[in-house]
Amino acid sequence: MTRVLSGVQPSGDLHLGNYLGALRQWAVHQHDHDAFYCIVDLHALTLEIDPKVLRARTLDTAANLLAAGLDPEVCTVFVQSHVPEHPRLTWLLECTATMGELNRMTQFKDKGRGQDAVRAGLFTYPVLMAADILLYDADRVPVGDDQRQHLELTREVAVRFNNRYGPTFTVPEAAIPTVGARVMDLQHPERKMSKSVDSPLGTVAMLDDPAEVARKVRKAVTDTDGEVRYDPEAKPGLSNLLELLAAATDRRPEDVATDYERYGDLKRDLTDALVELLRPVRARHAELSSDPGALHAVLARGAARAHEVAAATYARAAAAMGLLPA
Ligand code: TYM
Repeated sequence: MTRVLSGVQPSGDLHLGNYLGALRQWAVHQHDHDAFYCIVDLHALTLEIDPKVLRARTLDTAANLLAAGLDPEVCTVFVQSHVPEHPRLTWLLECTATMGELNRMTQFKDKGRGQDAVRAGLFTYPVLMAADILLYDADRVPVGDDQRQHLELTREVAVRFNNRYGPTFTVPEAAIPTVGARVMDLQHPERKMSKSVDSPLGTVAMLDDPAEVARKVRKAVTDTDGEVRYDPEAKPGLSNLLELLAAATDRRPEDVATDYERYGDLKRDLTDALVELLRPVRARHAELSSDPGALHAVLARGAARAHEVAAATYARAAAAMGLLPA
C-alpha cells in the first residue's frame, strides 16, 4: 500500500483553509493509503509561542484532526516531538541541503518580516519538514498550495541524497486539491487565510458557530462592480467566496458563478453550506475534548507506530552517510 504523510502546526485555531486545503483530503486518503498525520510541534517553536499555549494546542489539534474525520484505528496520528528521529534526520539533511536552497524559500522571509531576531529554526524549517516526509517513505503528501515550494525542496534533497549515498529515500509527490488549495482571508483577499496572522473577521475557524460563520461571510470584502464572475485577479474577494462554495459543494467555482446574479444570494448560500460542512466537525470536537485521556492514548499509540517506521529509515540514512552504528 502506498504511503501518505502530512503535518499541521499546533500554532493556532485551525481554519477553513486548513480544512479544505488539507484535512479533508487527509480523511479521504486514510482509507486507501497507509497514512501518517503529524502534529508538528517542533515547527511551532520557530515563532514565539507561550509554552502553556503550545501544550494545550497540541492536544486540541489532535481533537481537531479526529473531529475532521481521521480515524485512529485506520491511520496513524502522532506528535512530531514524540518521535526523536525527526530532529535526528533533520541534522543529516541539513548536511545535504544548501544555504542557497534555503535562502530561496519564501516562507521564512514572509514570517520573519518585521522581526529583529529571526530564529535560526525558521530558516531551517523546510529541512525539518523534509525529514518529516522522508522518514516515512511517503509517496504522496496532501497539502495546500502554500507548501508547494517546501515539497519541491524535499524532492531535491531526497534525490541529491540518493545520488550521493545510494538509494535511501522515496521521492514524494505533493497532492494539492484543485479547489480549496488556497483559501484567502475574507477581509484581505489578497493574502491567504492563516493561523499566524491576526485577522479575526477574515478567518473562519473550523469550530466557529453558525452565528460567527454568518457574520464573517456577511462582512466579507467583495467589490463594487456587482457582477458575479470567477476572476481571482480582478475580483479576489468574490472569487474566494465562489471558490469556498465550490469546495464545500464539490463543484467548480466557474460553474457556481453561473447560479448567481447578486452577491447577497451567494453569501447566503455560502453561509448555509459552511454551517452544514462544519456542523459535524464542531459536534465531534466537543465530544472528543471531554475526554483528554483518550486523546493522549491515541497519540501514544500513534507515536509508537510512527517510531517503528522512522527508526528504520533513520538507521538506513545514518548508515548510508557513514555514521558508525552505536
Ligand atoms: P500549516 O500548519 O500552516 O497548515 C496545515 C495545512 O493546511 C494548509 N493550508 C491551507 N490550505 C488552503 N488555504 C489556506 N489558506 C491554507 N492555510 C494552510 C497547508 O498547506 C497545510 O497543508 N509546513 C506545514 C506543516 C508541515 C508539513 C510537514 C506538511 C510540517 N511538516 C510535512 C506536510 C508534510 C505548515 O506549516 O502547515
